[in-house]
Amino acid sequence: HKASSSITRFPLIPVRGVPLMNYIANNWDNIWAFCPDPSDLLIATYPKAGTTWTQEIVDLLLHNGDAEACKRAPTPVRSPFLEIVSPPPIPSGLDRLEKMDPPRVIKTHLPFQLVPPGFWENKCKVIYVARNAKDNLVSYYYFDLMNQSQPEPGPFGGYIHKFMQGELSWGSWYDHVKGYWLEREKRNILYLFYEDMKENPRREVERIMKYLDLSVSDEVVSQIVELTSFKNMKENPMANYSCIPSPVFDKSISPFMRKGEVGDWKNHFTAEQSKLFDEDYEKQMKDVDIPFRTLI
Ligand code: A3P
Repeated sequence: HKASSSITRFPLIPVRGVPLMNYIANNWDNIWAFCPDPSDLLIATYPKAGTTWTQEIVDLLLHNGDAEACKRAPTPVRSPFLEIVSPPPIPSGLDRLEKMDPPRVIKTHLPFQLVPPGFWENKCKVIYVARNAKDNLVSYYYFDLMNQSQPEPGPFGGYIHKFMQGELSWGSWYDHVKGYWLEREKRNILYLFYEDMKENPRREVERIMKYLDLSVSDEVVSQIVELTSFKNMKENPMANYSCIPSPVFDKSISPFMRKGEVGDWKNHFTAEQSKLFDEDYEKQMKDVDIPFRTLI
């Protein structure tokens, strides 16, 4: 049942080998030409790695933990999604950014090599959040089931293969996490892990605070940890994506704030699927040593 005819599962078109939603691919030159201000912050992730959570933490840090100030608008309005292009009349990420004054907090799912070069020329700060492959895959699977603008995920078994082959929107998880990892020192990228955030959110909020050269009181840090718990964000209409209408995000299939845990992959992968995935993972990740944890 489609309430809006303009919403459809958009096909993917490769941009320099990375499959992107057709609307994004067709607007690629404008996205690549985007030039941020040096004061802008980029939050980069592979889809479903903890983007929204990090956006909320950053907004709260920038507003000294003021919960009301951070309810001024939904996440994608407060912190625009750089490359997103939706069917009109929905404003694109670039449209939103144009109407905002720096410093802006910009979200992207682009892999390192597709980040507009202006970010590096202007030495913008970049926070990258990575999540272990198996949980990231499961979260993406539910997202693709419910988000009617993403390609049909098909059965879970086949989805695992698409993930391993880098055929999902925004391409290969393996290339994504490696791309930013290898550049993190040279480009002063703060590289975070979803699992660390779950394990000790306070420590990670403080790391973000220091990276942003902010200093908020211990009390405010505690408040931010509390406001950005899974439970509180799930109930916060300005942070839980209830702003996206139901023909696009079909909440009868899955909520955006789905589970928010480490290790949910165990409830989805069979022993055989897990073995096959791990064998392939060894090969794809053999050239780097990124300390991912699939359980905490
Ligand atoms: P699950 O599908 O595993 O529940 P993104 O924002 O990058 O799209 O990532 C979404 C994932 O992060 C979802 O994972 C979502 O539930 C989880 N998430 C969002 N806010 C969270 C929070 N405050 N704490 C823990 N997980 C959170």
